[in-house]
Amino acid sequence: MIKNPILKIEDASIFHHFKTILNNVNLELDTGEFIYVIGKTGSGKSSLLRTIYCDIPLKMGKIIVDNQDISNISKKELPYLRRKIGIIFQDFQLFQDRNAYENIKFIMTSTGWNDNKKMDEKIFELLEKVGLEDKSKNYPFELSGGEQQRLVIARSIVNNPKIIIADEPTGNLDPLIAEKILKLLLEINKSGTSIIMTTHNYNLIQKYKKRVLKCEDGLVKETSI
Ligand SMILES: Nc1ncnc2c1ncn2[C@@H]1O[C@H](COP(=O)(O)OP(=O)(O)OP(=O)(O)O)[C@@H](O)[C@H]1O
Ligand SMILES: [Mg+2]
Repeated sequence: MIKNPILKIEDASIFHHFKTILNNVNLELDTGEFIYVIGKTGSGKSSLLRTIYCDIPLKMGKIIVDNQDISNISKKELPYLRRKIGIIFQDFQLFQDRNAYENIKFIMTSTGWNDNKKMDEKIFELLEKVGLEDKSKNYPFELSGGEQQRLVIARSIVNNPKIIIADEPTGNLDPLIAEKILKLLLEINKSGTSIIMTTHNYNLIQKYKKRVLKCEDGLVKETSI
């Protein structure tokens, strides 16, 4: 039973232009919960996550994040919402011309941090948390795929988000590294951040069991695998 939802979607329909991708989406993510979203390629998983992040406008229904109705959120309010939501994209989207330290710092300065000493402390705390303390000066091309994903995770938790939205965070990684990344996310989840993660990795879902939702035939359904 969901007691204290950090995210609630009510009767939402998700469109790209005039094409309906998902219909009548009803979803609740409890505070501290971790859920997987599965479904075939093209079934709407990324679109669902992008809608929560207000990257795709919602035309029908309602989305509530941390008790705030964000269905018609204004551009001005968007940065505040996005501090509550950490994003881990399917492709890494790191700045190639910035090293690991600078990649994190960029997110900080663009979300209101301005004290250099505090930023320094926080950046090294984050790098340590994800096991990259020795790589602060490395550029993305000097990091392995798994390390790049760790950096993306470090970046996503800069502002202690209430929710992390992870779109296939283990997608392009070898099985051992994929498992390590999932374990890192589970650790972050244990410290209170709710996580919604899309994946095609059935082995990991079976090993680390959580509630599973499936995008299928334009609907989001509870499923067991
Ligand atoms: N920007 C866009 N404009 C129009 N249609 C889009 C756009 N992005 C995605 N779509 C369509 O929306 C549908 C759902 O795409 P989405 O990326 O959400 O699928 P997915 O479940 O994440 O797939 P995958 O497992 O391959 O990542 C697809 O039919 C896709 O072609
Ligand atoms: Mg996708």
